[in-house]
Amino acid sequence: MATRRYKVLFVTPEVTPIIKVGGLGDVAGALPKALEVRGHDVRIILPDYGVIDRATYPSDRCWSNLRVRWESRDVQVNINEGVLPGSTVPVYYLDYPEQFEYGGVYVEKAGGDALKRAIRHFVFLSTAVAQVLDQIDWQPDLVHCHDWPAALVPSLLRRSKIHNHTPTVLTIHNLENQGGWPAQEVLGWLGFTDRQAEFFSLRDRYKSFNLLQQGIHAATVVNTVSPTYAKEILTPELGEGLDQDLSERPSVQGVLNGIDTEQFDPATDPHIAFRYSAKTVTRGKAQNKSALQKAFALPANDDKLLIGSVGRLTSQKGYDLLAAIGPDVASLGLEIVMLGSGHSSVEQALQRLAQAHPAWFRLRIGFDARLAQQIYAGADVFLMPSRFEPCGLGQLIAMRYGTLPVVRATGGLKDTVSDLGLHPHQGTGFVFENFQSAALLSALQQASHVFRTNKKLFADGR
Ligand code: GLC
Repeated sequence: MATRRYKVLFVTPEVTPIIKVGGLGDVAGALPKALEVRGHDVRIILPDYGVIDRATYPSDRCWSNLRVRWESRDVQVNINEGVLPGSTVPVYYLDYPEQFEYGGVYVEKAGGDALKRAIRHFVFLSTAVAQVLDQIDWQPDLVHCHDWPAALVPSLLRRSKIHNHTPTVLTIHNLENQGGWPAQEVLGWLGFTDRQAEFFSLRDRYKSFNLLQQGIHAATVVNTVSPTYAKEILTPELGEGLDQDLSERPSVQGVLNGIDTEQFDPATDPHIAFRYSAKTVTRGKAQNKSALQKAFALPANDDKLLIGSVGRLTSQKGYDLLAAIGPDVASLGLEIVMLGSGHSSVEQALQRLAQAHPAWFRLRIGFDARLAQQIYAGADVFLMPSRFEPCGLGQLIAMRYGTLPVVRATGGLKDTVSDLGLHPHQGTGFVFENFQSAALLSALQQASHVFRTNKKLFADGR
């Protein structure tokens, strides 16, 4: 029997390589391609942000003058069509300059005006998506919404003429960010009166309107990006205040993320100094290691264990564990190179570490796709000591490049890395349980020990 082909609309705030903030962008860029290969008709809609590089990602007007009811009046939006590079997946840019031309993508942790602007603009995105689907000549069988920026689509779609029964999937990439704003204001944008607010299952109708919570209640299916995180978010510890709402659902699925193995391939990667495959991994990694040491102004030295890390510098990522044990790590005789940017408190703690230990800790603050690839290829070990991790892509990319991850046993890290200490034959990295500096230190000690005594394991790039 032939498999049914579905028409799927992705609603997402970001899609790699067009516009990327974090891992959500990577998944929203890779998954549609994989579905297309399996014969599904996938299309993506996102805001036509002013910051999109239109020369590299051109688009043409596709639908004009679509009506959207917003703040109790009709406004007109257009949709421009481009294509997801490396595929024929159409990308629809929702063109409404008043909302989206302001020069940023989105903020999750900002306060005041910046946050209001971000939330307002995604309430608009969801409103517009739910309404324009009745006015265009392509009708999805399924609407796949990603994170809080798209989480209002499932409830608003119930008011659609054509799509009030169209199934929706809400994928939670990170429960920490929910998009909450005073309900009175959000209802005003949506043009709902207080009485009509019953339409939403507002727990506390005069206080916060939580976009993600709306999606959790209204979507046909709610899932997240790993089986372990799917269980963790049902608990008060990692439920971010929504564990009850999630527990009321018949099920919350955990579907492990993947990576685009064509994009991330050491045999073709244009960013790395020396390309390599499984056959040439030993030499390839050694050459990339010395190139990476050079890039961070460290002396080339293959005898030192080189640890790399790439990630958002937020408290989620657990780098504070490392900052707390600088002197102990110093005695292990290893080197750490790190790339990322994020919250100033985390950046500053790491900068202090870099100033105190320049011989073995080097930090580059910023976003640099090229250097990130050089770290995946050149490091012996990839560090992800996350406090929590819905899935994590860094460890998957690292393993694709033959780099052993050191991870904490949480969320997708637990599902994707198995500990060499516990499973000497099948292990793929080093895993520690407790979110404590001492536990991280002993994982680093173990990695150093294996590096000294069984270097072949690293050289083979398992
Ligand atoms: C978020 C999560 C990360 C996950 C990614 C893609 O960035 O923090 O764990 O891998 O989304 O789903």
